[in-house]
Amino acid sequence: MRRPIFTVLLSLAALLLASASEGASFPAVRGGGGAVASAEEASTEVGLEILRAGGNAVDAAVATALALAVVHPQAGNLGGGGFAVVRMNDQLMSLDFREVAPAAATRDMYLDDEGRPWKDASSIGPLAAGVPGSPVGLYELHQRFGALPWPRILRPARQLASEGFVVTTRLYDSLVEEQERLERFPETAAVWLPDGRPPAVGSRMRLSALARTLEAYAEQGPRALTEGPIAEAIERASAAHGGVLRVSDLQSYEAVWRPPLEFEAFGWKMAAMDLPAAGGIIVAQNLSLLESLGWGELPRFGADRAHLLAEVWRRSYADRFLMGDPRSSEVDSKGLLAPEWLAYRRSTIQRDKASLSADIARFPESPPAESPDTTHVAVADAVGNLVTLTTTLNYTFGCRLMVPEAGFFLNNEMDDFAAAPGRPNLYGLVQGEANAVRPGHRMLSSMTPILAWRGEEAVALGGRGGSRIPTAIAQVLLHLLVDGDPLQAAVDRPRLHHQWLPDVLRAEADALSPETVEELSSRGHEVGIWTKDAKVNAVRMLEDGNFEAAADPRGPGSAGVVDPIQ
Ligand code: DON
Repeated sequence: MRRPIFTVLLSLAALLLASASEGASFPAVRGGGGAVASAEEASTEVGLEILRAGGNAVDAAVATALALAVVHPQAGNLGGGGFAVVRMNDQLMSLDFREVAPAAATRDMYLDDEGRPWKDASSIGPLAAGVPGSPVGLYELHQRFGALPWPRILRPARQLASEGFVVTTRLYDSLVEEQERLERFPETAAVWLPDGRPPAVGSRMRLSALARTLEAYAEQGPRALTEGPIAEAIERASAAHGGVLRVSDLQSYEAVWRPPLEFEAFGWKMAAMDLPAAGGIIVAQNLSLLESLGWGELPRFGADRAHLLAEVWRRSYADRFLMGDPRSSEVDSKGLLAPEWLAYRRSTIQRDKASLSADIARFPESPPAESPDTTHVAVADAVGNLVTLTTTLNYTFGCRLMVPEAGFFLNNEMDDFAAAPGRPNLYGLVQGEANAVRPGHRMLSSMTPILAWRGEEAVALGGRGGSRIPTAIAQVLLHLLVDGDPLQAAVDRPRLHHQWLPDVLRAEADALSPETVEELSSRGHEVGIWTKDAKVNAVRMLEDGNFEAAADPRGPGSAGVVDPIQ
């Protein structure tokens, strides 16, 4: 009964989107001296400026991330966290600067006396904030791999904050959309809603408190934010609105260097972030399974490929239920990528019939071998060093509380824990005990910063979009590595998404033809329209030594190269 309605809706939506998105894609950019892609033009410019000034990929990525903390306060941050995977001088490394639960956090802190989620405590206000990881993380990344002096890396962001930057339509729109929640905090409203409304598009925004924070950060490193007056201001602002963040939490925060998750698929080598980021494992499982299922040989358009995508995603997101901080995760990447486990998962996939997510959820089989568990920046420099860095406050403007003296927002990353185990979070993800709130633990993430290379060719990519990030990254990689799309086309192509629960295959409006929807429905898939897919940023080094950069028109974002070919 559902099928004809969906088919009609999809066709209508496809028509609408086709007309709305004409010309939405960015022109491809290509150059010889490196490349940067990020969410905003001003931040991409900063990355390019650092490359031109002789900085390496890490210098440029950190400077870009700091610029995002100024011009893209919806996600760019000092009050959040993230992950980075780097290839520097042929060394692969990944840095986990994910937030952790404060020492005073408890398993049931977001539940009322009857065990029900307690209003929006895990998403709005400072009780939703994890201990920020960015101040330590960005510094640590630069300390280990950067070439230019730290204050030089900070300079562009400081200038943007003190001299001002232009309010974009996107920033204005985000402020309008979030106005009601931002208004709950007078500290936030004083800066971002002067006279009770967002600053006008095109007006110049100066953030003097943030400029002072960046100055202190430039002079003293992360200690300027993790102890002393700024840390005390964070504790004060948090406590004033019922939060539990303490200076001691900030002081004890540590970023962790982890071996990247390395794997191969379709003739390419890849390096991703391991737990507590789930995205790398999901993409590794997806690509390994699809390769062994002969996905690349199937017709590019049509139901067969979409069916298999849905089936492998369904299984990987079911595995995600068992993931969490490496200390509490019930599974790890080794077990989840073990040939036996992948073979078992493959053996349960039928080519002509959709599985039911509910069946997969039960885990009738013993779990795999256990041990005992958004904004994106992509940079390549002229000598082929690569950085893929995703950083986030979680939701737009995080918990919406801006610490007045510090000048930045606190995250609401605590919602990425299974704040109410068994119930969907902001991204509809149903998560398990392994990801319950535990003090000092990192909340499971879907972020998927990843590098892929074959010979001299290499790509660095990642995205924003919560649970939709891993499926978007898997598809962009498939477009690039299997179908040989140019970078921008691979990012632009309409996408699909399935995350186990809810048991629906989501399709961007022009991703599937009505006939394909019919065919998928007849195999048992429920197909739904999806307008909110992830936003991917990517850079690529080509065999001829040139570079490409691509930002997602869904973002929008900004891509640039050094020395464009005339
Ligand atoms: O770590 C995660 O999975 C989420 N906090 C990411 C948030 C995100 O991508 C927001 N973008 N829409």
